[in-house]
Amino acid sequence: MLRAPVIAGNWKLNHGPSATTEFFESLIPRLPEEIRGTVAVFPPSVSLSAAKRALAGAGIRLGVQNLYWEPSGAFTGEISPALAMDAGATLALVGHSERRHLFGETDREAARKAWAAIEAGLTVVFCVGETLEERDAGRAFEVVERQFEALVGEDGPPSPEALAVAYEPVWAIGTGRTASPADATDMHRHIHSLLSRHYGAGNAGLVPILYGGSVKPENAAELLAAPGVDGLLIGGASLDPVSFAAICGMA
Ligand code: PGA
Repeated sequence: MLRAPVIAGNWKLNHGPSATTEFFESLIPRLPEEIRGTVAVFPPSVSLSAAKRALAGAGIRLGVQNLYWEPSGAFTGEISPALAMDAGATLALVGHSERRHLFGETDREAARKAWAAIEAGLTVVFCVGETLEERDAGRAFEVVERQFEALVGEDGPPSPEALAVAYEPVWAIGTGRTASPADATDMHRHIHSLLSRHYGAGNAGLVPILYGGSVKPENAAELLAAPGVDGLLIGGASLDPVSFAAICGMA
């Protein structure tokens, strides 16, 4: 389970094993011990073992950015939940918009990945979010609902303790354009109502809802203060230990 307010860094295709070691050597002394349990980092999978070594029990959570649903076999280039866990991951990011839009991952594939990760014992940060075109067409709520409902499928939702949802409007990722705190609140309330539909009002609160998209030290505090925002998923600004630590200190 992820403890809110969650501050998660998604490094994307950055920081190999050496840069990962340097990053954590710089980050750890900047983070007071009591907040380390709410911090998570998603390095490239080749850097997980280096991250685990550098963290040496510091309490920061590690996750993979992507995985495949099969446990093993002839799937060149893929990694399974079990391999990710062996390398140090306790979390998995699933359905990131770059996976969906650059690599053609479908709602169903994202859902299969999420279920395989959860069944193996990982906690999943499941990403949802609309494109600019979809927002302008007034379809943002519908798109996010479709993405989330694919995860629920016909068999019902996963355990709430094994899940966090990240709302990442595609138009705000890496663009410098952030959703306003009010935009984030509107969508987070919508996601909360989807969660309540399946978990009931009480248990829905066990699933943290993170906001992501051009979060920086300059706008993190107001986004964290927005009602319904239980944490942040940070790309670019998580690559530098100084700015990432600054954001972690605001939670
Ligand atoms: P960004 O990326 O903070 O660089 O916009 C966020 C993400 O894609 O998770």
